[in-house]
Amino acid sequence: MTAPLRLGIAGLGTVGAGVVKIIRKKADLLSARSGRAIEISAVSARSKDKDRGVPLAGYAWEDDPVALAKRADVDVFVELMGGSDGPAKAATEAALAAGKDVVTANKALLAHHGQALALMAEEKGALIRFEAAVAGGIPVIKSLLEGLAGNDITRVMGVMNGTCNYILTRMQSAGLSYAEVFEEANQLGYLEADPNLDVGGIDAGHKLALLASLAFGTQVNFPGVELQGIGELTIEDIKAAADMGYRIKLLGVAQMTARGLEQRMSPCLVPDTSPLGQLEGGTNMVVLEGDQVQQVVLRGPGAGEGPTASAVMGDVMDLARGIRPAIFGQPASTLVAATPASSAAPAPYYLRFSLLDKPGALAKVATVLGEAGVSIDRMRQYGHADASAPVLIVTHKCARQELLAATRAMQGLDVVVGAPVALRIEDL
Ligand code: HSE
Repeated sequence: MTAPLRLGIAGLGTVGAGVVKIIRKKADLLSARSGRAIEISAVSARSKDKDRGVPLAGYAWEDDPVALAKRADVDVFVELMGGSDGPAKAATEAALAAGKDVVTANKALLAHHGQALALMAEEKGALIRFEAAVAGGIPVIKSLLEGLAGNDITRVMGVMNGTCNYILTRMQSAGLSYAEVFEEANQLGYLEADPNLDVGGIDAGHKLALLASLAFGTQVNFPGVELQGIGELTIEDIKAAADMGYRIKLLGVAQMTARGLEQRMSPCLVPDTSPLGQLEGGTNMVVLEGDQVQQVVLRGPGAGEGPTASAVMGDVMDLARGIRPAIFGQPASTLVAATPASSAAPAPYYLRFSLLDKPGALAKVATVLGEAGVSIDRMRQYGHADASAPVLIVTHKCARQELLAATRAMQGLDVVVGAPVALRIEDL
């Protein structure tokens, strides 16, 4: 039997404690499957005395994760602290400098420093594995690295922040406002310490940037992700979208186009009958499209102890078995620095606005849309008690610049009350 694989685990929060539990409970299964024992040599966390529901007495303790990462009895440094810089980065660099493999759940660290860390790892013959960083328990990175390696990936899409999906689906089902459901999510402990990571789309944007690198052979480029959060969505839009046969999702889309690499994380409409449209609550979904496979849909829990620890263990087991694909699918030195696309691929759009209910008002809007090159596909005007009528329009495919020109011109019309809301409808 091969020598045991010895782990050093930094960070004993929900996920870290979950990993320790799996290694303790499933020792026989893990060694039967990998051909070697998986052991924990040492652990590190902020507080030594906290009860984490799992015995730690058998493991060496390090206050300093950097010291943990450098230990001679650690083969794999498991980084579960989080944060794009600070101790997580310092300890990861220390592990790599010592030639040790790293398993991490840290999307922020890799979204900001993925390319530099991958180069550093490769120089030392070390690996960074990060299944748990994207979509929790869904094995999406393994799917891209291995199962779909024979495809040209054409598009990656996903709902990759469970908190946002919870908020949006709860608004829809209970008819509550964004502020009310945000508070509920807060009470339930669903929000990150900085809620803007969730509702601002940043957490999901980090994940999208990692998937784009794997999919398109490009260097991780988080600043190239166009980000728009869900904070401005209203219950009126959720209801109106539903009335037209759509659901609103915080949707990530990455695709390589002739205009460059498009990476968008923004609220989009998707058909309510599509797998993405039917995704409820905190669940995640990733849609991978390849020239050979066409479309693969992966659905599963995006966070939580069991699912995230499951993803960490998948990486640990690969290392134990000697499965060592390049960190981002090909050597980091061969990844290209893709130019971010200057504009998004054309799409249909949803437009909601209030219109003074008087003769010729709609004609003025139609003229402005037509002049901007935007064609109407469907339209609905609702009954109303006051002077202005709620109107919904679904456009045919148009360029975003055309749509923006149209909404700007609409705001100049004396019959349009307030600013129109425009949301992209993603082609599925
Ligand atoms: N806060 C994330 C979510 C999980 O709600 O999906 C961690 O990335």
